[in-house]
Amino acid sequence: MDFLEAMNFRHACKIFKEGEKIPEKLFENILEVGRLSPSSFGMEPWELLVVQSQELKETLRPFCWNQVQITSCSDLLVFVTKNKLIEPGSAYVEKMFKRKDMPQEMLDVYVKLYADFLGAKAEGNPSFYKDWAAKQAYIAAGNMMTYAATEGIDSCPIEGFDQSGVEKILGLDGKEKSAVLIVTFGYRVNEQPAKTRLPMSEICRYL
Ligand SMILES: Cc1cc2nc3c(=O)[nH]c(=O)nc-3n(C[C@H](O)[C@H](O)[C@H](O)COP(=O)(O)O)c2cc1C
Repeated sequence: MDFLEAMNFRHACKIFKEGEKIPEKLFENILEVGRLSPSSFGMEPWELLVVQSQELKETLRPFCWNQVQITSCSDLLVFVTKNKLIEPGSAYVEKMFKRKDMPQEMLDVYVKLYADFLGAKAEGNPSFYKDWAAKQAYIAAGNMMTYAATEGIDSCPIEGFDQSGVEKILGLDGKEKSAVLIVTFGYRVNEQPAKTRLPMSEICRYL
């Protein structure tokens, strides 16, 4: 499937064929596409919880607006933001910068830029680091869903969930780490409805 075909094939799938598993290799590829996705300053500010147990899916569903995707999917991913780890000055931030092969002076410049740039934005906004990390998780989620579509695999991004309820089940404290997005993957039961999109002229202006 070429890229545009995949974009048309992908839709927010509401019911998956229960019991139809995504082959392991393809599922690993979906994860790899997430891992290879870009992140600001290369900070990789999110991680994934992979839910494959039917029992855990059943437990989560009432906290996810009772959406059928949660229990009918083959695999469910929870995107978790590293709110605390990515705060300027943390050992994690230093480790992430140190991976880049650059001289110490350059490293110092990046560490300072990171602290100044993000520190200023975070002032007076207690959820800043979570929100910043979530934006980047969404980039990876988009890539993963489109890649999945190229392989004929359906998906649904899910924001409709009770964050604190889901975090409690998954053992997240909601402060240092937060559950910001769920994406379910599997195979569609129904044909997708016609796409509803604004015309190009309404979303795009040439200057
Ligand atoms: C961040 C985000 C959160 C979403 N949350 C839900 C959700 O909780 N449940 C759902 O059925 N669809 C959800 N959707 C799917 C959208 O409703 C859907 O993408 C949109 O209506 C366009 O339709 P299409 O993706 O089928 O083309 C979400 C989409 C995004 C991008």
